[in-house]
Amino acid sequence: MDLEAKKKVLRSFTYGLYILTARDGEEYAAGTVNWVTQASFTPPLIALGVKRDSRLHELIGRTGRLALMTLAQDQKQIAQDFFKPTVREGSTLNGHPFEPSPTFGLPLLTELPYWLEAEVRHIFEGGDHSVVVAEVVEAGVRFEAKPLVMWDTGWFYGG
Ligand SMILES: Cc1cc2nc3c(=O)[nH]c(=O)nc-3n(C[C@H](O)[C@H](O)[C@H](O)COP(=O)(O)O)c2cc1C
Repeated sequence: MDLEAKKKVLRSFTYGLYILTARDGEEYAAGTVNWVTQASFTPPLIALGVKRDSRLHELIGRTGRLALMTLAQDQKQIAQDFFKPTVREGSTLNGHPFEPSPTFGLPLLTELPYWLEAEVRHIFEGGDHSVVVAEVVEAGVRFEAKPLVMWDTGWFYGG
């Protein structure tokens, strides 16, 4: 295989940027992710690539639950704050306020425009990331905004 071409082709995919969260009791995990897509209308499924050795993977695997929020175009700094390990102080994660989601009590960052809660249906442990397929059970819109797009950030996660 032409490895340079493989990298360029995979990096040509278009991605948004999202904050993924999970929680088991007093344990919280949150991280910025881009490997996200809708995967079915009925039931409403999403598919995500989740790093095998992350806290997110551990908590999502243990609880079978996750929350996902879309970052707005002007929220690049928030994305950066969630490349780091998760620190909870009161009702903030990495310095950003959250509230519990209505169905599962998962952390929802209140600064982000769009959120959903989902219940895991399948985890395919294919490689260094697992493909997590989850069914959306609740969703909300705080305000309308254009989403933050990977290409516009100059970052890459893929290849
Ligand atoms: C640009 C960028 C995109 C990322 N996309 C993903 C992703 O799609 N899936 C993933 O599991 N991790 C992704 N990561 C890594 C997570 O942000 C990081 O592992 C996360 O903060 C989880 O940390 P934890 O080990 O504390 O749970 C990405 C990192 C960067 C810099």
